Amino acid sequence: MEVIIKPDYEAMSKAAALVVAEILNTKPNAVLGMATGSSPLGVYKELVRLHNDEGLDFSQVTTFNLDEYVGLSIKHSQSYHHFMHENFFRHVNIPSQNIYIPSGTTKNYQAFCQWYEQRIEQCGGIDVQLLGIGSDGHIAFNEPTSSLSSRTRLKTLAKQTIDDNARFFDRREDVPTYAITMGVGTILESRKIVLLASGENKAEVVAASIEGPITSMITASALQLHPSTLFYADEQAASKLKMREYYDWIQEKKPGAPPI
Ligand code: GLP
Repeated sequence: MEVIIKPDYEAMSKAAALVVAEILNTKPNAVLGMATGSSPLGVYKELVRLHNDEGLDFSQVTTFNLDEYVGLSIKHSQSYHHFMHENFFRHVNIPSQNIYIPSGTTKNYQAFCQWYEQRIEQCGGIDVQLLGIGSDGHIAFNEPTSSLSSRTRLKTLAKQTIDDNARFFDRREDVPTYAITMGVGTILESRKIVLLASGENKAEVVAASIEGPITSMITASALQLHPSTLFYADEQAASKLKMREYYDWIQEKKPGAPPI
């Protein structure tokens, strides 16, 4: 895992967007794994800017989103379908048939989840997966105690997650209880992972994910098993890391490192 600490949210978002852009430059038909929440918003903003100002092309791209609330129609203002359309898809040129987001309204969740896993495989697997991190250390909606080899499935949200996300809904009771989410095992199969964490309320879980034991209590800690994860944090989110000096030292010494 490479830990990259940036002074603020904007710097972190721009650096992460550049990683995605570089992948697209070498592989224009890359498969991108998309995330929702406030953490990746800056990345989407920068990718849209690169598309508008520098001609970054998404015409051959395929995308798979991590998760969706169960029971919200795709038009609901808090559905992840709506979030992705508003914040990213409507601003770039990804063909609509190449966009995959888990369905929160299917009649058969088990069949849908199996199909979703198959589609990822048939499209060649995910080249780069964007991730945020929940305040309980979850990735996607893989709540504490999720199996670290789990696949796409229905999950019951933790009360902590419902509390965290209540700010987006009129009333706490309106937050869905269930979600459909890629599993930790699904996420770990992505060729590259780019996680973004910002703000002081993430500091504890960021430190636990990077420096703590691998545990299903903090599903982001499973990323320690992944061979190519870039873990971006801003100053506040990085404030509880014990090995902070070492991470900065690695970045400082990177230009002089022998080519691999
Ligand atoms: C939700 C999403 C996660 C996201 C998390 C954190 O639970 N399912 O994918 O990482 O929220 O959101 P934020 O980035 O807004 O803190």
